[in-house]
Amino acid sequence: MIFKEIETDLDWSEAVALRNIYNWTHPGTVAEARSFFELSRQDRNDVRFVGLLDEEIVSYGSAMFNRNANDGTYWFAVFLDPHSDHAVGTFEWTTQECVKRIQGFGGTRAMIESRGEYSWEKVALEAIGFSLDMKLPFSCLETRETEFELHPNVISFRDFLDQNPDDGLHQLWRLEMDVAADLPLPFPFVETPFESFSKSLLDPEVDLTSKFIYLEDGELKGMSQLWPSKVNQTLAATGLTGVRRQYRRQSVATKTKQHAIAWAKAQGIERIFTDNEENNPMYQLNLQLGFRHMFDYEVYSKAC
Ligand SMILES: CC(C)(COP(=O)(O)OP(=O)(O)OC[C@H]1O[C@@H](n2cnc3c(N)ncnc32)[C@H](O)[C@@H]1OP(=O)(O)O)[C@@H](O)C(=O)NCCC(=O)NCCS
Repeated sequence: MIFKEIETDLDWSEAVALRNIYNWTHPGTVAEARSFFELSRQDRNDVRFVGLLDEEIVSYGSAMFNRNANDGTYWFAVFLDPHSDHAVGTFEWTTQECVKRIQGFGGTRAMIESRGEYSWEKVALEAIGFSLDMKLPFSCLETRETEFELHPNVISFRDFLDQNPDDGLHQLWRLEMDVAADLPLPFPFVETPFESFSKSLLDPEVDLTSKFIYLEDGELKGMSQLWPSKVNQTLAATGLTGVRRQYRRQSVATKTKQHAIAWAKAQGIERIFTDNEENNPMYQLNLQLGFRHMFDYEVYSKAC
């Protein structure tokens, strides 16, 4: 198997096609993938490459510096057709290539979120020295089974930024960092710099109408994000949901998520997918909202 950097339009479209077969719950566009990569590599090490077998592109690998950790950790991902005959070998070789790239960057730890529905991944990762750090149950909500309503205190990032042109972006960054600091993570949390946060959020590929904040008495109390798929408009993934410490246990997360679900249903989104750390109260909250467990994402890592 040989590997080469993604260079041409054709490389990108084949790589993203593999990603979409693999991650069928959240297919994305080539434009999104390219835009995310271009932005990301402006201020951190980030590489994208494809793996070829008999001149055919059979895998898409990526390795990027984890800016939310301070221990030289890199995230990597391997996308391929999980139903192909060579899936296991292709996964192993592409994983080894990702580790090599991380070593080339001087990284100290390689970390992957393995999609537990492909159970052979865990076998392959353990065989090459990776160990399990954390489990994230992945679940799905059928919006037709819900009857939630929009909530008057919840507004979209788009409306909030329009109403607060001077400091709205900074307020959103502060809110996201304050709640993300309490996420259960397999490493100590480091804030994303404001510059990187704002560039990512203002990327034209990012839809700000599907990301919500809970605003009451002028206070930004909490947030909940959706990432509708631009390829299959009946699907969406959730992003970060969080509530500032002083406002927790006042149903802020529940109301914000109910609003997001009602909004999604009105847009024609039929299924919403989410993952949570297994002991995070958010998982139970999601089950109460109607999400049903499908499989676990499993974070595996190894020192480089
Ligand atoms: C998880 C989180 C979003 C919950 O926000 P919240 O506004 O406090 O949640 P709600 O008030 O809507 O809680 C609804 C129910 O969830 C359960 N729940 C929420 N937090 C809980 C906790 N810390 N322990 C046990 N149960 C909890 C309870 O059943 C609660 O109902 P109750 O208060 O009547 O008992 C918040 O704790 C948070 O921001 N944590 C840090 C960021 C994070 O982990 N986000 C989730 C990422 S997947």
